[in-house]
Amino acid sequence: MAKNKNINYKGPYGYQKLKEREPRACIRFKCALTNTILDVLRQRPGWVEVKEEGEWDFYWCDVRWLQENFDHTYMDEHVRISHFRNHYELTRKNYIVKNLKRFRKQLEREAGKLEAMKCDFFPKTFEMPSEYHLFVEEFRKNPGITWIMKPDGVRCDDQKDEIPVENYVAQRYIENPYLIGGRKFDLRVYVLVMSYIPLKAWLYRDGFARFSNTRFTLNSIDDHYVHLTNVAVQKTAPDYDPEKGCKWMIQQFRLFLTAKHGAEAVEILFAEMDNIFIKSLQSVQKVIISDKHCFELYGYDILIDQDLKPWLLEVNASPSLTASSQEDYELKTRLLEDTLNIVDMEGRLTGKEKRVGGFDLIWNDGPVSRADGNLDTPMNGFVANTHLGYNNDRKKQLKQLFKSVQTQQKN
Ligand SMILES: Nc1ncnc2c1ncn2[C@@H]1O[C@H](COP(=O)(O)OP(=O)(O)O)[C@@H](O)[C@H]1O
Ligand SMILES: [Mg+2]
Repeated sequence: MAKNKNINYKGPYGYQKLKEREPRACIRFKCALTNTILDVLRQRPGWVEVKEEGEWDFYWCDVRWLQENFDHTYMDEHVRISHFRNHYELTRKNYIVKNLKRFRKQLEREAGKLEAMKCDFFPKTFEMPSEYHLFVEEFRKNPGITWIMKPDGVRCDDQKDEIPVENYVAQRYIENPYLIGGRKFDLRVYVLVMSYIPLKAWLYRDGFARFSNTRFTLNSIDDHYVHLTNVAVQKTAPDYDPEKGCKWMIQQFRLFLTAKHGAEAVEILFAEMDNIFIKSLQSVQKVIISDKHCFELYGYDILIDQDLKPWLLEVNASPSLTASSQEDYELKTRLLEDTLNIVDMEGRLTGKEKRVGGFDLIWNDGPVSRADGNLDTPMNGFVANTHLGYNNDRKKQLKQLFKSVQTQQKN
């Protein structure tokens, strides 16, 4: 990470004038994973892979490397790494519950009950064994409720079976999931955070629904293939078809719902999902160490119930980048290319963009207005500026974007 004095990089929040910047001859990267991200990094023009102890400008590291090394690794101004130091505040199921509860109380004090109720999207959860007695009390009060026990650890989607589990949470089981063709599904949505203070977050237009292989019923409560829709579980089912992969693109899902329930109901649902992304990030804003070298691509797991209410199940700091089919590979490639476009090691952006490829800026120290300058009208009290599930014409957008940036550079 030796400093090259001839190169001017933009600071974390302020931007130098474009023409003052010189492009770097090459960007040295390291990558801890051997899946789609490595392909994307290797194919990126001007980027060169560094092995083992070599110096690097960019590291797509794993969360374990970060925990062991972050505090004693010196990083130059321009260096970027793919996680925040204490991402687990958001991604561990027991931590996110505490952070959301605290944030809810703060909102109630500062903005009133209605605003606080916008945090009620995480199913009631108890940490085990520390909250065992509270759980038993709740269990006795409401004996008819079904609970799901889940490991609370920080595990990477791509290595979920490899890391031993120490603690669990007991979570209220959503018994009335929305079903399509009789099957349960959950949504995977991608959110990129570039900074926590101020909060700057981007939402990707693509995502997918992951279906269970087997028809939903509450009678076979022990059957994983009915109740757990994550790919890690479904791909072990005897009749799993890797080409189909039990997935729907989110665009297809949005169209399906619109045909069935009308545009307004779907707008409200998507506005409520937007609210989940923002509120969950705000709930950890003050506890996450917001270091200018860090960015993070989160995978949100959302379950929708039969009243079209979205529930947050978990946030992954290392969403699976292993592709389960060709379509999945293409989605992940687009997502990662656009992530790198926003991280902008090349220094091509002005910092004022509201859209980069398939990403739309959803929060920039406050709500983001649409390109026409207007904020959307609230839907059921929720303001949505989401383009989730919209057409992802990223290639055209990127072409226009970089053309206009070049024009600015010349003038
Ligand atoms: N509270 C819940 N209600 C209904 N289904 C759930 C609930 N929690 C988890 N599930 C199901 O289990 C799957 C895995 O749960 P998740 O919280 O994402 O944990 P992980 O992916 O770490 O195993 C989800 O994709 C969902 O299908
Ligand atoms: Mg999950």
